[in-house]
Amino acid sequence: MKKIYIKTWGCQMNDYDSSIISNLLLNQKNFSITKKPENADVLILNTCSIREKAKEKLFHQLGRWKKIKEKNLKIIIAVGGCVATQEGEEIYKRANYINIIFGTQTIHRLPAMIKEVNKGKKFLIDISFPTQEKFDALLEPRNSIISSYVSIIEGCNKYCSFCIVPYTRGMEVSRKCDDILFEIISLAKKGIKEIHLLGQNVNAYKGETAHGGICSFSELIELISEIDEIKRIRFTTSHPIEFTDEIINVYKTVPKLANFLHLPVQSGSDRILNLMKRGHSVLDYKKIIKKLLLIRPNIQISSDFIVGFPGETKSDFNKTMELIEEINFDMSFSFIYSPRPGTPAAIMPDNEISLNEKKIRLYLLQKKIRKQAANWTKKMMNSIQCILVEGISKKNITELYGKTENNRTAYFQGLSTMIGKFVKIKITNTFIHSVRGTFVDYVD
Ligand code: SAH
Ligand code: F3S
Repeated sequence: MKKIYIKTWGCQMNDYDSSIISNLLLNQKNFSITKKPENADVLILNTCSIREKAKEKLFHQLGRWKKIKEKNLKIIIAVGGCVATQEGEEIYKRANYINIIFGTQTIHRLPAMIKEVNKGKKFLIDISFPTQEKFDALLEPRNSIISSYVSIIEGCNKYCSFCIVPYTRGMEVSRKCDDILFEIISLAKKGIKEIHLLGQNVNAYKGETAHGGICSFSELIELISEIDEIKRIRFTTSHPIEFTDEIINVYKTVPKLANFLHLPVQSGSDRILNLMKRGHSVLDYKKIIKKLLLIRPNIQISSDFIVGFPGETKSDFNKTMELIEEINFDMSFSFIYSPRPGTPAAIMPDNEISLNEKKIRLYLLQKKIRKQAANWTKKMMNSIQCILVEGISKKNITELYGKTENNRTAYFQGLSTMIGKFVKIKITNTFIHSVRGTFVDYVD
C-alpha cells in the first residue's frame, strides 16, 4: 500500500481537482491518503498562480520536500496545477529530484505517470490540454454526503488583462450535457441533495447533447432541477458578459436555484474595467442585478474585487465603494492587484499609489462589505430559512448545523436523523456569519 500526501493551493477549481486526484488514486486500491508528508510514498503539490509569488512559493515548498526525499530516495514527488503548466520543464531544471510534472488538464493521467516512475522512469512531464479526456475520466468528488461539486466547463477565453487563468487552464471547453446529468443522477442516488456547478465561467456553458444539439447554461439548470432528489442548485463562477436574460429567467422558473449569486465585477469604475478588458461596464452590471431583483427581491449578491489595479485613482476606488453600497454586496473575495508575468496588465505603469495605500483601500473595502454582510444576517431575524442539515455542531453536541441559501451557518436543536435532510427553521438569534433557530418542519 502506497501512501499519498496532497498539498493544494488556491481556488475552488484546484480543491476540486485535488479531490478528483485523490479519488482516482484511491480507486486504484493500492493507495491510501496520509496527512503527514514525512510518511508519504508519493508527495503531490497542486499549485495555483492566480496571486502572490507563486514560483518562489513552489521552490520553497519543494525545498522542504527535498529534505524528506533525502531520507528516502524512493519517494515520488509530483508537481501539478497552474504553476506547473506555466513553468513546465523549468521546474525540473531547478529541482531535478522531482519525478512528475502534470498540468491542470492532465490530472487524470497522474496514476499512470506514477506507475511509470515506479517501473523505473526518472522523470515525466505532461502539461497538454486534453480537456475532454479529463472530463471523461472524472470520478465524483467525495467531499460531503449531501452536497457535491460538479465540473461543467473548464478554462476561460475572456483574457482579462490581469488574469493568468486562460494561459494555465486553457480555452473554454464544455462537458457533454448527458455526462453531467448522468453524474448528478448517480450522486442523487447516493443521497446528494445539493449540486454546486463549477467552472471558471459557468454561464459560458454550451454542452453537446446526445442528439447533436447544444444545451445552454440555463437549459442545463432546468434539466438538473427536474431531478427530484436534488433540492438546491448553486454555481460558481459566472461572468457578467454572458449573464443573459435566459439565465436571469431561470431564477423565476427554477425555485431550487439558491437565492444567492456570486457575480464578480472587480471594480466600480468604467475606466478601470476598460483597462482590465472585462468587456462590460458598471451599468451593464447594474442592469443584470436590477432584472434579477425584479424576480428575486431578496437575492444576495457577492463579488470578487481587485484594488490597486495599475492606475487606480482615489476617484476610481470611490466609485467601487459607491457600487458596493448601491448593490449592497453581501460578501466578497477581494485582493490587492498582483502582477502576473505574461499578462498585459503586468507591463502597465503601476506607480499611481503606494502598497500601503493599496492595503488601506483593501481594508476599507472589506470593512464595508463585512458591515453589509452583518446587516444582511440581522435581517434574517424571525424569518423561516431552509437548511440543508450537514451534521452535529462541534461546539454543542445537542445542536445540528447546516447552511442557509445565503451561506450562513445555521444552528438548531434537532435529531441526528435530520442530517442529510432539508428542514425549515425559524431564526431566533443572528450573529455576523451565522444564525441560530428552532426547528419548524421538514421541507420534503
Ligand atoms: N472565474 C474565475 C476567476 C478566477 S480568478 C473563478 O472564480 O474561478 C478569481 C479572482 O481572483 C478574480 O475574479 C480576481 O478578482 C482575482 N484575481 C485574478 N487575477 C488577479 C491578479 N492578478 N491580482 C489580484 N487578483 C486577481
Ligand atoms: Fe480570469 Fe477574467 Fe477568465 S478573471 S478566469 S480571465 S473571466
